[in-house]
Amino acid sequence: MNFKNNAIALITGAGGREELEELRVKYLGRKGEINRMLAEIPKMAAEEKTGAGEAINDLKRVIEEAISAKGGEILSVGDSGWTDLTAPGIDPGLGNVHPVTKAVDEITGIFEKIGFTRVRYPTVDWDWYPFGAVNMEHDHPARDEFETFFVDAPAHPKLGKMVLTPHTSNGQVREMERVGSPPIRMLNIAPCFRRQQDVTHLVSFIQFEGLVVDKGISIAHLKGVIDYFAGEFYGPGAKSRLRPFHFQFTEPSLEVDFSCPNCKGTGKIIGGDRCRFCKSGWHEVGGAGMVHPAVLRNGGIDPEKYTGFAFGWGVERTYAMKPGVKIDDIRLLNSTDLRVLKQ
Ligand code: FA5
Repeated sequence: MNFKNNAIALITGAGGREELEELRVKYLGRKGEINRMLAEIPKMAAEEKTGAGEAINDLKRVIEEAISAKGGEILSVGDSGWTDLTAPGIDPGLGNVHPVTKAVDEITGIFEKIGFTRVRYPTVDWDWYPFGAVNMEHDHPARDEFETFFVDAPAHPKLGKMVLTPHTSNGQVREMERVGSPPIRMLNIAPCFRRQQDVTHLVSFIQFEGLVVDKGISIAHLKGVIDYFAGEFYGPGAKSRLRPFHFQFTEPSLEVDFSCPNCKGTGKIIGGDRCRFCKSGWHEVGGAGMVHPAVLRNGGIDPEKYTGFAFGWGVERTYAMKPGVKIDDIRLLNSTDLRVLKQ
C-alpha cells in the first residue's frame, strides 16, 4: 500500500478521538511525516523541486480532509456510541471566491484603469444581436463555428429566434444603440454557451469583449491595449502575437496569442522536454480586429467618420495560463473539485 493509502486507511480505521489525535501528530505535527518530507526538498535537484512541493501539499490536504471527516464521524457517534456534547466543534472551513470570479474581477480592474466601462447584456438574446447585427446572415456558414443552443420560444418578428449567446459580440450593436454616438469603450463580460466540450472547450464559459469606437482608431491602438493587458495580467515581460484570421464582424481579423508563462515562450521546460501547457511557446486566447463597417452601420454609426476595434477572449483560457495556475484541462474550472476551488 502506498504512503497516502496507508495514511487514509489508518485514519478512517481510528478507534476513537485519542487514536485520531496520535495520527494527526504523526502526519501533521511539527516533527510529523509531512514536515519531514518538506525538509527533504532543498536537497533535491532543481527540476524535481516544484513537482515534489505540489505533491506533498496535495498529500497534506488529503490527510487534513480525512482527519477532519473522521473527527466529525467520531464526534457524532462518540467514542462509545454516545454523542459528546462537550467536545470542541469541527472547523467547517472558510469558503473562498471562485478562481474564475477572481479572474473576472481582475480583468475588469485592468480595463477600467484605462477608461473602459463594464456593461452587461442579455445572455439569452434574439438571434439578431449575436449574428445578424455582426454581419452573419441567416445561412452564413461562419455561424456553424458558434455551435449555438436555440431556445424553444416563439421567434421575434424582426429579431429572430432566441438563443443562448455563443459569444459576447452580441453586446457590440447593443452598446452602439445604448451610447448613441462615439466615443465607445465597452467591456462586456458574460457567460456564453456552445455545444462543445473537451480539454480546451466548455459548454458554459465566460468571454470578455472589448469594443472601442472613435475618430482615428487604428490597429496600433488595438495592439497597444493587448500588450497593456498582457503586462498587467501575466506580469512584465509577457508578449502578444497577432495572427491573420477571419471573422465576419471584423476586417482585418486577427487571432491573439500570448507567450506561455510556464516555458517563457520557448516551448520547452527545464531538461529540454516539450512544455505541456502550450503549443510551441504560445497560447491562443481569442479573436480581435477592426470593426467591420457593416457592423458600425447596424449600430447607427457612420463608418466614414468613425473606426473601431474589438476583441473577444475566453476568461477560463486566459486564466488557465496565468503563472502558477497550471490547469491543463479547463473543464476542472467548472467542476466541484475542492482541490481546484481552494487554489
Ligand atoms: C469569438 O467568439 C469572437 N466573437 C471573438 C471576437 C470578438 C473576434 C470581437 C473579433 C472581434 P472565437 O469563437 O474564436 O471568437 O472565441 C473566442 C475565444 O473564446 C476563444 O479563443 C476561447 O478563448 C474562448 N472560447 C470559445 N469557445 C469556447 C468554449 N467552448 N469553451 C471555452 N472557451 C471558449
